Amino acid sequence: MTNTESPLAGRTVVLTGASSGIGLAIATLLAERGASLALAARRVERIEKLAASIRADGGRAIAVQTDVTVLADVRDLVQRAVDEFGTVDALVSNAGVARLGRIDQLDVEDWSAMIDVNLRGLLHGLAAVLPVFRSQGHGHVVTTVSTAGITISPTMGVYAATKNAARTVMEALRTESTDGVVRTTEISPGFVRTELADEMDPASRDRIQTGMREFGLDPHAVARAVSFALEQPHDVEIGSLTIRPTVQN
Ligand SMILES: NC(=O)c1ccc[n+]([C@@H]2O[C@H](COP(=O)([O-])OP(=O)(O)OC[C@H]3O[C@@H](n4cnc5c(N)ncnc54)[C@H](OP(=O)(O)O)[C@@H]3O)[C@@H](O)[C@H]2O)c1
Repeated sequence: MTNTESPLAGRTVVLTGASSGIGLAIATLLAERGASLALAARRVERIEKLAASIRADGGRAIAVQTDVTVLADVRDLVQRAVDEFGTVDALVSNAGVARLGRIDQLDVEDWSAMIDVNLRGLLHGLAAVLPVFRSQGHGHVVTTVSTAGITISPTMGVYAATKNAARTVMEALRTESTDGVVRTTEISPGFVRTELADEMDPASRDRIQTGMREFGLDPHAVARAVSFALEQPHDVEIGSLTIRPTVQN
């Protein structure tokens, strides 16, 4: 049911990583709260089904197949949102991959994959959306980083590095945006029950999935934080939020 009283009613949000886990939860909650959504991921059948279900419930959503490592895809995503909804009020840059491993395993391809999605994907989002924000005089960028970048653990080094690079980009954008046009929010989840571990090597996958199963948060906990940041009045910027399971060290 669309909530027309919500501060998000009629606001347009471009959301990457919408096909599973945290992104799926964000899409569901923002749609319930009245946002118009441009849903992005590579697995287009999933986001098309999600967009159709949002529309069936009275909401507004389009699905745009997007690989965030490809700048042209991300530019097309933002343009499709503008064409459909007339504006883009926020980008939620949530797509991410985690290929865990010790640095001396030298998994260079996995390092590149994480840099390409977790850092370059965010930068591509900024390249696509900031001109829109500047021309309309307002906009909000929210990105999903990680507590992996706060407490650095073995096997998480390069993943954490990409998340902390994203954090640095967001802080730079904040300091360059004190004219009040662009708001920035970075959200650091701890363990959340999602598909993030599915592509990891078997040892990391078993360890991370055990943590997710035993104490991981429901992804809606992160979705509520994203919505909280987006719902603030335009002169209020929620810069940084950390959301851990209470029992996570
Ligand atoms: N789960 C956790 O414990 C946790 C903790 C801290 C931070 N995070 C972060 O939260 C974010 C969401 O992850 P999740 O946990 O929800 O995992 P997930 O269920 O695996 O979701 C990852 C999402 O990213 C998308 N994605 C991956 N590569 C992409 C690409 N090249 N282009 C476009 N989309 C791409 C996936 O869609 P397609 O495969 O369909 O493209 C999927 O929708 C990530 O940034 C992750 O690093 C997760």
